[in-house]
Amino acid sequence: MDIDLADLDFWRRPLKERHEAFARLRQADLPVFFPEKKVPLLRSGTGFYALVRHADVVEASRNAKVFSSEPAVTNPEPPGWVKHVFGESMVNMDDPRHARLRRIVSRAFSPRMLQGLQADIEKACARIVDDVIAKGPGDFVSQVAARLPIHVICDMMGIPESMRAKVHEHVDASTAYSGVRPSLLQSARLAGKNVVALLALQRMVIQLGHERVAEPGKDLVSALVTANPDGEKLTDKELGSFFALLLVAGNETARNTMAHGIKLLTDHPAQRELLMSDFDGHVNGAIEEMVRHVSPIIQFRRTVTEDFALRGLELKKGDRVVLFYGSANRDEEVFPDADAFDITRDTKPHVGFGGPGPHFCLGANLARQEMRTMFRELLTRLPDIRSVGEPELLVSNFDNSVRSQSFTF
Ligand code: HEM
Repeated sequence: MDIDLADLDFWRRPLKERHEAFARLRQADLPVFFPEKKVPLLRSGTGFYALVRHADVVEASRNAKVFSSEPAVTNPEPPGWVKHVFGESMVNMDDPRHARLRRIVSRAFSPRMLQGLQADIEKACARIVDDVIAKGPGDFVSQVAARLPIHVICDMMGIPESMRAKVHEHVDASTAYSGVRPSLLQSARLAGKNVVALLALQRMVIQLGHERVAEPGKDLVSALVTANPDGEKLTDKELGSFFALLLVAGNETARNTMAHGIKLLTDHPAQRELLMSDFDGHVNGAIEEMVRHVSPIIQFRRTVTEDFALRGLELKKGDRVVLFYGSANRDEEVFPDADAFDITRDTKPHVGFGGPGPHFCLGANLARQEMRTMFRELLTRLPDIRSVGEPELLVSNFDNSVRSQSFTF
């Protein structure tokens, strides 16, 4: 089979070809093993089994005792500096450490907290559309999609206005690394920039945490550094890691879904017409279908903790499996005519936000709320808004990142 998911060249192929490759992999009787390649700056691992069918991704997500998120969920093995920066991140932990952190931070994502953010999200979306109208057609990513998620995360955390320009600057620098790099030199340069930026972000939020311990406010940082009813709170290092995780997990994902989303709506005028015929009735289905169709996170890894049979595949302790969300979301057994963009389909089982289990995306409802509000503002105030041409994609085996997407209205 001329498909090698461990070869970074595979991720340079056009999206359509990659979807076809995954369709072929899904037909194989058992998950295929891909020996690891040596990647500049990344440790060479032992290789991995690719979980490409929906049922396999769901099973591995659900059974966290056998399919561990430790030592890390990225693939290949991340370099030491990533562990240093993200080491205490909940996404790379198993219970009980994971459960403790999730208990502390999930306060920020309760329905009441999210409801409290709605007025601010609406204001931010209105301002973004005001600016679009003032500036005119251009790049949808920088003018629209990139602006909202980071604004919302800063608001939740209670980052003061005076610090926001610096946060933006550091986030831009820290996301520069998330692609497939052509040379060792370029990788090293970007990794260096990335780690400096992430550490700077962590220092900023830790400093803020100290101020909020002395003088608590109503924001999330205050909540996280003061004890919850069980007496639990975050340490400095945990607070820094959580902020970095939010900025990485909650920023690019929502941004890329919106950027791909405007193109999907443009390419499927009948679906768009249906959405506009009853916005409230269809918007949730449209957002969910965008997340399924785009699958903004391509893959996360698990490490097997004990010998285990997965659909006849004999896994050994220490084996790695990689969960390919985009492939699971196009599994024809669950999603008939999976390539079609259909806002009325039953997307309930999609795994764009991860499979069911302890690591299911903590920010899923926030992301849905942001995207609902943004598309409502865009499509009602600019009824002719549409993408122009093809998006410029970042070559990546981790996220479906859009660098730019022209648009007009
Ligand atoms: C369309 C937008 C988004 C997508 C597609 C997405 C996708 C995912 C996926 C696939 C996971 C599962 C990781 C795993 O199983 O190992 C995850 C976890 C997570 N996401 Fe999201 N995400 C989105 C938006 C957000 C937002 C807006 C936030 C917060 C502001 C967020 C915060 C998190 C956190 C904290 C985790 C780790 C949860 C844990 O380990 O318990 N995400 N996300």
